[in-house]
Amino acid sequence: MGLSVIILAAGQGKRMHSARPKVLQLLAGRPLLAHVLASGKALGASDICVVYGHGGDEVQAAFEGQAIRWALQAEQLGTGHAVQQAMDGTPDDNRVLILFGDVPLLLPGTLQSLMDATSTGEMAILTVVVDDPAGYGRIVREHGNVVRNVEQKDATNDELAIREINTGVMLCPGAKLKAWLARLDNNNAQGEYYLTDVIAMAVADGVRVHGIKATKQEEVMGINDKKQLAEAERALQRRQVEELMEQGVGFADPARVDIRGTLRCGKDVYIDVNAIFEGTVTLADDVRIESNNLIRDSRLGAGTVVHSNCHIEGATTGPGCELGPFARLRPGTELAANVKVGNFVEIKKSNVADGSKVNHLSYIGDSDIGANVNVGAGTITCNYDGMNKYRTRIGDGAFIGSGVNLVAPVEVGSGATIGAGSTITRQVPNGELAISRAKQVTVKGWKARSKRIEKRGD
Ligand code: UD1
Ligand code: CA
Repeated sequence: MGLSVIILAAGQGKRMHSARPKVLQLLAGRPLLAHVLASGKALGASDICVVYGHGGDEVQAAFEGQAIRWALQAEQLGTGHAVQQAMDGTPDDNRVLILFGDVPLLLPGTLQSLMDATSTGEMAILTVVVDDPAGYGRIVREHGNVVRNVEQKDATNDELAIREINTGVMLCPGAKLKAWLARLDNNNAQGEYYLTDVIAMAVADGVRVHGIKATKQEEVMGINDKKQLAEAERALQRRQVEELMEQGVGFADPARVDIRGTLRCGKDVYIDVNAIFEGTVTLADDVRIESNNLIRDSRLGAGTVVHSNCHIEGATTGPGCELGPFARLRPGTELAANVKVGNFVEIKKSNVADGSKVNHLSYIGDSDIGANVNVGAGTITCNYDGMNKYRTRIGDGAFIGSGVNLVAPVEVGSGATIGAGSTITRQVPNGELAISRAKQVTVKGWKARSKRIEKRGD
């Protein structure tokens, strides 16, 4: 007996006031639907079906290449109608777990406990007790057992007072669900085919319905507008940071860090305020991230320090590197051990070997820099001739003076020295000194024009 997960995602999400379909709104850098899909996958579902409607092409394109069965709901006639669209390809003997595309914070553990509590042939719904149940379906119990759900708009005053609500998560035996869906009608206040009506049908058929209460309301929060999206973002960020703190990561302020993807940390990592991590970032032992840093898809070696205000993307550093303040590492930057990259330095597609320094105001692109090289302030690799990019190679122990232009393709030998202000276009042999600049002249008797001091009108 396998598990089918059906995710309802056909709604437009009018309250988002966005051109983008609701389930593509970003939460921690990923679409809402990606979070729900991840919980489905974590349960080991053999079949995941997404019911789509509004913005279908865009939604499908965002998840291209993933093992998803897509079911179109051309007209949004209600949650029951939506599930019906997915049933054709759903194996009868599977258990079916229904999730909503706009409820992204569910923990796999909560869903697992719902499944564990439910035997073959039984049904379960996830509920939660809230202070303000307005807008939700109310769970009606008799002698403690769930007997039906009533939507807000169809509820009597007594029913409106019930504080246990339907989260939308439901687990059903496949064949029975199919039969119940076929019997749904839309004789209700909203003229919709309510999925929730299958609860009473199950009870009438003598099928046990477990009402499992979620402990945290945050987990079952539905996202309808930008305000709720921002609330969910905070909740998810807090959850991620708490997990990292439990593993021993230090944060100056857990409320002032954002992780949009996966952050893996070694021991004794410390992260100051306003650090943003995107994609997959790995920080080895003793890494220290100072304030205001954006780090995307990068790996930083043990003991690396990132001073304030750096922008780091697609880079790797070895142990003991020091970056910034105000450094920019672009994709393809690979720094070996103990490399220093200082302020206003940009590096891309370059390898820098052990102990080298690029400390001030430089652009290093498409370069291979050896070990213990000193790159002087204001050095630029001229890697682009308007058509193609070329590489610059600098050997071990070379010393590049300040304000040097290295016009690629070009090679500076190991131990070579380049005089300040040079524009280097040809190979410099090992150990030699190259200077390439106009000679300084002194123009004798030259008179500076005296400044005209204009009298300004009132
Ligand atoms: C639904 C439940 C309600 C529950 C609440 C929890 C029903 C009848 N009501 O109400 O008991 O308390 O969720 O948040 O199920 N969708 C479709 N096609 C449709 C209609 C909806 O795919 O025709 C999708 C939406 O995109 C959304 C989800 O189903 O992801 C829920 O739909 P929504 O309209 O938000 O349901 P609620 O009225 O909030
Ligand atoms: Ca809703």
